[in-house]
Amino acid sequence: MKFRNAMMFVLALGISGVASAADEIVIKFSHVVAADTPKGKASEFFAKKAAELTKGKVKVEVYANSALYKDKEEMEALQIGAVQMLAPSLAKFGPLGAKEFEVFDFPYIFDDYAELHKITQGPIGASLLAKLEPKGIKGLAFWDNGFKSFSANTPIKAPTDLKGKKMRIQSSKVLEEEIRSIGGLPQVMAFSEVYQALQTGVVDGTENPISNLYTQKMHEVQKHLTLTNHGYLGYAVIVNKKFWEGLPADVRGQLEQAMKESTVFANKIAQEENNTALEGVKKSGKTTVYTPTKEEKMAFKKAMAPVHTKMADRVGGELLQSIYKETGFDPNKL
Ligand code: LMR
Repeated sequence: MKFRNAMMFVLALGISGVASAADEIVIKFSHVVAADTPKGKASEFFAKKAAELTKGKVKVEVYANSALYKDKEEMEALQIGAVQMLAPSLAKFGPLGAKEFEVFDFPYIFDDYAELHKITQGPIGASLLAKLEPKGIKGLAFWDNGFKSFSANTPIKAPTDLKGKKMRIQSSKVLEEEIRSIGGLPQVMAFSEVYQALQTGVVDGTENPISNLYTQKMHEVQKHLTLTNHGYLGYAVIVNKKFWEGLPADVRGQLEQAMKESTVFANKIAQEENNTALEGVKKSGKTTVYTPTKEEKMAFKKAMAPVHTKMADRVGGELLQSIYKETGFDPNKL
């Protein structure tokens, strides 16, 4: 009798287990950086919030560090529905045909996060996300990382110090032009391959916010880092549109709320994470960190200013002007 009761209990457990697993909605969220970065932490935060607000109906599985897909593959995987959610860097939307996103790559276009947020958290940002819809993608939010600095194995004090250097960049035509403007040789490469390329000398240097550099241990294979802060790197959180619109309306609403809270979280921790990473780089003693003087920074700004005119057509002159209007940046007045 005891045995029979126990069996019934196990059976009942099993059946209810099957039923809840079948109801569960799984969102695979793939990204390429370490878990210990602004994007890594924000995606985990979203997974937690989503479970909480949907009362366990939605399970977000986060795959960090290119564990599922590398940069180009993850975009394809989203479109065919092999993953449901990504947060690619804004510099990686060109191959999708959304060239306008490369406006965020323009050198020195934003002085700080406050200027940037006028765009990402305002109507211009919303209209950029809307441009993804015809491509079967829904843009949900912008998440910050931070401002990029240059690293190499030789000191970088002037733009000419990167002349002839092979510099790894993300897949953005604006970034290609940025490197050319200072005489460097741009090399597009997936994020997951950068550490090894730096280690083996396939490339001489790179640019990234410090949190990316530090968590991939790039500072261990780069002798010099100069805090140029010459451009912004951040993300658009995107989902497969068909999947998103096919969700029950109440669940979608709860996920939208989870995304709202995650965006506040992401944009709150980004600067802190980069500051902590910089401390880590300094403490490691493996890289010399150099802060350029005001004059040295101006030399970089001036050298890169022509990128604004050359690449205006790529992103659309009107979009560029609307951003200048918000931020007050004027490449002709340097
Ligand atoms: C890079 O490729 O350098 C970055 O886009 C990685 C990332 O997602 O922050």
